[in-house]
Amino acid sequence: MPDIGFVDGQFMPLSEARVSVEDRGYQFGDGVYEVIRTYGGIPFQVDAHLARLEQSAAAIKLLPPYRKHEWVGYVAEGLRLARYPESKVYIQITRGVAPRDHVFPPAARPTVVMTVREMQELSEDIRVGGVEAVTVEDLRWGRCDIKSLNLLPNILARQQAKEAGAFEAIFVREGEITEGAVSNVMIIHSGALVTSPSGPKILAGVTRQVVLDLASKEGVPIEERRVTEHEFRTADEIFLTGTTVEVLPVVRVNGTAVRRGVPGEVACLLARCFKRLVA
Ligand code: PDD
Repeated sequence: MPDIGFVDGQFMPLSEARVSVEDRGYQFGDGVYEVIRTYGGIPFQVDAHLARLEQSAAAIKLLPPYRKHEWVGYVAEGLRLARYPESKVYIQITRGVAPRDHVFPPAARPTVVMTVREMQELSEDIRVGGVEAVTVEDLRWGRCDIKSLNLLPNILARQQAKEAGAFEAIFVREGEITEGAVSNVMIIHSGALVTSPSGPKILAGVTRQVVLDLASKEGVPIEERRVTEHEFRTADEIFLTGTTVEVLPVVRVNGTAVRRGVPGEVACLLARCFKRLVA
């Protein structure tokens, strides 16, 4: 049964999965989500993803209907039913179904939706050659640490990137590089790996933490601090991290080559370390 849907405890083919038009996820984007991928069929960093799902839910005062072992069981069952070599699991919790009113509905139960699809890997060309990015003004709200369903600024930014022939949009907020539309951003500047600190301006990526741990083991100096636009423009290397991009070098920004326009040494080292870790 490939492409699996899950709604409130029931598995089904994805094409049969339905939620009400009065679901608050649909009407308000009133919910949170996670994206987890597998390596060798095993969900990668599932504890970290589920912990972040709980944090996101708590931050919007939503009580998840399942405990950790139940989530783990549902994810495992979805993977078992889908039987893909590698899968991408999407989990979404909303505040439930109720007549449209901004205040929390007193009686609604959260709606849980999950999809399991085959993981589409990035092409080897992209992986080896690196990608182009554009910078976009960060117009998002003040709680980007919450993995909320409200992704309109990310959607518009990524579409802008696509129309410019680029892969990712990188957000700039008041002269500071925050993160990508679907990834975290790291640069190599003056011999150090510099990346925005976790806090309300970015999503604390699960991959970001894994890559920081790998960099630390490799003896790369790390600075988790504000990244200025100037540092970004004069960086020796730029790369992205994320569930779908893993460790991905950026070789051009706004049409200008990053250094020599080829993937940097540290990015390649960390991509190799990451590959080894997930193998
Ligand atoms: N997004 N920052 C943003 C804004 C993201 O949307 C994501 C991932 C990341 C990287 O986080 P992680 O390493 O935990 O995947 C950073 C997912 C993949 C998505 O929305 O599809």
